[in-house]
Amino acid sequence: MKSSTGKILERIPASGTCFSVVAVLVILNCLLLGFQISSNAGRYESTWWLASAPPMACTNASFALDEKLNMSSIDLSKGEVRSFRAHGVASRLIIEVGSYRNGPRTFSSVVMTSKLLNELHDITHECEWVTSDSKALRVKAMAIKPDWNMGRLYGTMVLVCNFPRDVGTDAEGGQMILTAGYSDSYRIPERFVALTEMRGEYSASHFQQPYSYDLAFCGSPLYGNISPQRVREWIAYHAWFFGNRTLFMFHDAGGIHDDVYRVLKPWIDLGRVQVQNLRQAEVYEGYYHHQFTILNDCLMRSQTLASWTFFFDIDEYLYIPEAHSPRAILNLLAEQARNNVTQILFKNIKISDALCEKSNKTTTEAQSMAKQSRKWAFEKLVYADCNYGWEPVESRKYALQPQLVWATGVHYSEHLKQGHYITMDPTVLRSYHYHNTLNGRWETCKDFPQHPNGGPNSVNVTNCTTDHAMLSFAPAVKSYELATIGEQPFLL
Ligand SMILES: *[C@@H]1O[C@H](CO)[C@@H](O)[C@H](O)[C@H]1NC(C)=O
Ligand SMILES: *[C@@H]1O[C@H](CO)[C@@H](O)[C@H](O)[C@H]1NC(C)=O
Ligand SMILES: *[C@@H]1O[C@H](CO)[C@@H](O)[C@H](O)[C@H]1NC(C)=O
Ligand SMILES: *[C@@H]1O[C@H](CO)[C@@H](O)[C@H](O)[C@H]1NC(C)=O
Ligand SMILES: *[C@@H]1O[C@H](CO)[C@@H](O)[C@H](O)[C@H]1NC(C)=O
Ligand SMILES: *[C@@H]1O[C@H](CO)[C@@H](O)[C@H](O)[C@H]1NC(C)=O
Ligand SMILES: *[C@@H]1O[C@H](CO)[C@@H](O)[C@H](O)[C@H]1NC(C)=O
Repeated sequence: MKSSTGKILERIPASGTCFSVVAVLVILNCLLLGFQISSNAGRYESTWWLASAPPMACTNASFALDEKLNMSSIDLSKGEVRSFRAHGVASRLIIEVGSYRNGPRTFSSVVMTSKLLNELHDITHECEWVTSDSKALRVKAMAIKPDWNMGRLYGTMVLVCNFPRDVGTDAEGGQMILTAGYSDSYRIPERFVALTEMRGEYSASHFQQPYSYDLAFCGSPLYGNISPQRVREWIAYHAWFFGNRTLFMFHDAGGIHDDVYRVLKPWIDLGRVQVQNLRQAEVYEGYYHHQFTILNDCLMRSQTLASWTFFFDIDEYLYIPEAHSPRAILNLLAEQARNNVTQILFKNIKISDALCEKSNKTTTEAQSMAKQSRKWAFEKLVYADCNYGWEPVESRKYALQPQLVWATGVHYSEHLKQGHYITMDPTVLRSYHYHNTLNGRWETCKDFPQHPNGGPNSVNVTNCTTDHAMLSFAPAVKSYELATIGEQPFLL
């Protein structure tokens, strides 16, 4: 984010600053406090509140009120005036995550918000572009709520500011200010600087091809005891598959522990992997480690980095049956872009998490297992096309042209600015889902089908054909990894 170290363009009250109205309230509260101490002393015997409320505490607002309220309309002239002391967790209207310029006249802010507060207060959002000569242009924000139905305290909101004309394109600098107004008479609208653009910072070239990368990847939040070796395999495979001009953006919600970071480090040093540390977001209660929030924030970051952005998980492997090669995906995407396709959806095929290709080169069973355990997951796990009791084509993931959407989701974006989406034929592009192989640091092989194309031997399924498509890429991927980042340890 931009820092606000430059010239102050307009005085914005910082949070925690006392409004005059707050000061009045604090004084009012002190009077009430005094009143209560004398009149209620008999009833509240030596409570902490009395004991720890020296008169000095009344000189700042944090003691009694940590919310900025306008209570001047409340009539306190009659009866015994009661006050209400709040404790515990308050929910926030807006938790800023990131604000971005998306073009000459468009900005987006990704925030978390208490869904209940939003609905009960019928919040209105407004954007202002303010320049050093204090000229301000205001527009109502479009609020997109991609995970509103996920039933958690905090939901994702993408606030889109679409000004009627270009702003700041003279590179004179300015600020984008967001206001969220409560529709009640007690609360003063929240108003804060979402983004500061310094003089000379704007350049039209940031929003046009060529971008620094061909492709970007936005990963979902990582958590749990993730296997470093599985991460190593995924990144090596996709770095090879997508080509050298790809930026992988990973999001750490607790899963990028020391050994995983060690695996990523050589790629980070090459500028091909970025890690966002989002562990502090865990403080707030939201859906699946704030997955929607984080994917939208990543979408916004990718808008000035690449022509296409992929959204899938790091236990999923993209595969192009025909002409599988490092250039194939770029050719495929270029063709889609020429056809005005903004988003492609591709199907996931669920690989067995236990069924492995049996190695028949070694002599003893023990040697075979030892050799097997050093193999990469996609080098040994096979897809068995048979009746497992679940549907092998299970879900979809996607890629899109990030400049052409307003916001996004986990399985697709329903907010295209232009163009259309297509679902890829799995014989053209598909993804293998290595479910259950990423979280946990153990050997995955449990079952071995009879070779060749025999049925699995102990999972009680019959009439299967096995798909070995991924197995053959291991040598190319391993030598690509070696050429790119050198010898790496095996850290299961
Ligand atoms: C408010 O007063 C308390 C007690 O005097 C003090 O510890 C605290 O730092 C003050 N807070 C602010 C924001 O001034
Ligand atoms: C506070 O509320 C009163 C009465 O509703 C209103 O007249 C006044 O403008 C409000 N003050 C602020 C700072 O919003
Ligand atoms: C793509 O969109 C442009 C502008 O709307 C149009 O001129 C062109 O014919 C479209 N191309 C295809 C292949 O549909
Ligand atoms: C294992 O043996 C079979 C039959 O001899 C052969 O077709 C197959 O290619 C061998 N597999 C491997 C992985 O060497
Ligand atoms: C397979 O079926 C047999 C006989 O019905 C049963 O004893 C065995 O536990 C099953 N194995 C698995 C892995 O479910
Ligand atoms: C096995 O698959 C074939 C072809 O799909 C089918 O005709 C046959 O009925 C299947 N057999 C069993 C035991 O499911
Ligand atoms: C990609 O990077 C590798 C390793 O640095 C290099 O050997 C290879 O030539 C590069 N490929 C292309 C197409 O530039």
